[in-house]
Amino acid sequence: MGLFGSSSFVVFLLGLVLLLNIAVFCNGGKTSTFVRKVEKTNDMPLDSDVFQVPHGYNAPQQVHITQGDQVGKAVIVSWVTVEEPGSSKVLYWSEWHRKQKKVAEGKFTTYKFYNYTSGYIHHCTIRNLEFNTKYYYVVGVGHTERKFWFTTPPEVGPDVPYTFGLIGDLGQSFDSNRTLTHYESNLQKGQTVLFVGDLSYADTYPNHDNARWDAWGRFVERSTAYQPWIWTAGNHEIDFAPEIGETKPFKPYTKRYHMPYKASGSTAPFWYSIKRASAHIIVLASYSAYGKYTPQYRWLKDELPKVNRSETPWLIVLMHSPWYNSYNYHYMEGETMRVMYEEWFVIYKVDVVFAGHVHAYERSERVSNIAYNVVNGICSPVKDQSAPVYITIGDGGNLEGLATNMTEPQPAYSAYREASFGHAIFDIKNRTHAYYGWHRNQDGNAVEADSMWFSNRHWHQVDDSTTSSQ
Ligand SMILES: *[C@@H]1O[C@H](CO)[C@@H](O)[C@H](O)[C@H]1NC(C)=O
Ligand SMILES: *[C@@H]1O[C@H](CO)[C@@H](O)[C@H](O)[C@H]1NC(C)=O
Ligand SMILES: *[C@@H]1O[C@H](CO)[C@@H](O)[C@H](O)[C@H]1NC(C)=O
Ligand SMILES: *[C@@H]1O[C@H](CO)[C@@H](O)[C@H](O)[C@H]1NC(C)=O
Ligand SMILES: *[C@@H]1O[C@H](CO)[C@@H](O)[C@H](O)[C@H]1NC(C)=O
Ligand SMILES: [Fe+2]
Repeated sequence: MGLFGSSSFVVFLLGLVLLLNIAVFCNGGKTSTFVRKVEKTNDMPLDSDVFQVPHGYNAPQQVHITQGDQVGKAVIVSWVTVEEPGSSKVLYWSEWHRKQKKVAEGKFTTYKFYNYTSGYIHHCTIRNLEFNTKYYYVVGVGHTERKFWFTTPPEVGPDVPYTFGLIGDLGQSFDSNRTLTHYESNLQKGQTVLFVGDLSYADTYPNHDNARWDAWGRFVERSTAYQPWIWTAGNHEIDFAPEIGETKPFKPYTKRYHMPYKASGSTAPFWYSIKRASAHIIVLASYSAYGKYTPQYRWLKDELPKVNRSETPWLIVLMHSPWYNSYNYHYMEGETMRVMYEEWFVIYKVDVVFAGHVHAYERSERVSNIAYNVVNGICSPVKDQSAPVYITIGDGGNLEGLATNMTEPQPAYSAYREASFGHAIFDIKNRTHAYYGWHRNQDGNAVEADSMWFSNRHWHQVDDSTTSSQ
């Protein structure tokens, strides 16, 4: 035993146990010990089943829909034709009036990117839809017609249940396909996807091979044609490539994906808001100017006081680059935006912030870090029941692989973190309660690797922390 007599060794051991205990309590929440099977994270080859071009002359492909106004009575339908422009019309009818077929007229556009020329990209907004109604729609009128359907949301109101899916940083790898499949087979059916940015990862290919933008559009069509995906711009949407003469940021993204940004008074498609059922959703742009006096700053400053929690109790913010992130990736990238806007999130009691960018999963406690004034030294996150929960869900499964390297020890603000691919469901029950669950790809449909009952910050501001009982 050398230095220690046997009794003093026991005391030493006890002390060690105590110390370890203290260390455990000082640290944050849980770092999952889940061990992943190491699998390749390669993009699916272009001849994969998911990328198949639909049959027929000038058949519409890459069909996707998103909300088309502020309240959910309009839908933007988008698709691409390749051989010739063809018709930009959408035929549509509700399941209650099958004989009353209506027509909306859209427009098409094209673009070039280095030596790539796009197909004919059609966008058509259909308006004045009934709430809570299933609609069928047809695109490709005059050539090869393809039929899809969607269901409009219920009218905006405080106790309307609604289920959002959450996916980020999806890409087009074999893991991306697993994530999408797992989302589709989830028993709690997501009705709309809140997508937190980084869609196709086409920019990882030589010359940002935009054929991978097309491939991605075909891959996700099996979901995006049937339910709206609410888009957030990520860094892989920038496509800024001065070395090949491409100096207009976001060109492919803005040509291919339209948002109803004007409906919320925004002046650019990168930041905007929608109301859907009982939620007010604010989409922010990590890669557009957000400093004081910028268009995004002015818009958000005007937007937050407009949120009416009697109408939409749930205030959800989407952005790409997370503000709270305890992985050793993208360190501090969200920090400047946090400094600009975090105080507003606390004042207006945002319920939850979803971000992507870091290719892993993490959920924070309700914390804020807004007391610092450069000289007072008060610069650590503190528990704050008016603050949102920050969730990083950049774990869609793109080709860049998992972010596995975490800061140690786990910071106190971090409630749960795990380097696995997956998706989440935010299931609003009524104005006070929402059930949130994160699903890792390796598990069965019913398994939630992390979950939390959210208490609404406006209507039911109780401590809803999953660790508060400890
Ligand atoms: C674009 O240029 C690259 C090389 O610079 C070449 O490999 C590729 O085939 C070209 N693509 C088209 C559509 O011309
Ligand atoms: C993608 O997932 C779907 C649904 O599970 C499956 O049918 C398809 O074969 C998968 N494709 C690839 C390339 O993994
Ligand atoms: C907020 O919404 C409620 C319920 O729809 C409505 O009665 C009220 O007038 C709204 N308040 C404002 C300031 O618009
Ligand atoms: C994890 O990140 C830290 C900080 O950036 C770095 O020092 C360390 O080498 C990384 N570890 C591994 C295994 O990559
Ligand atoms: C809201 O939903 C929660 C969870 O389902 C439930 O416990 C609660 O009773 C509901 N509140 C009202 C007013 O119905
Ligand atoms: Fe990213």
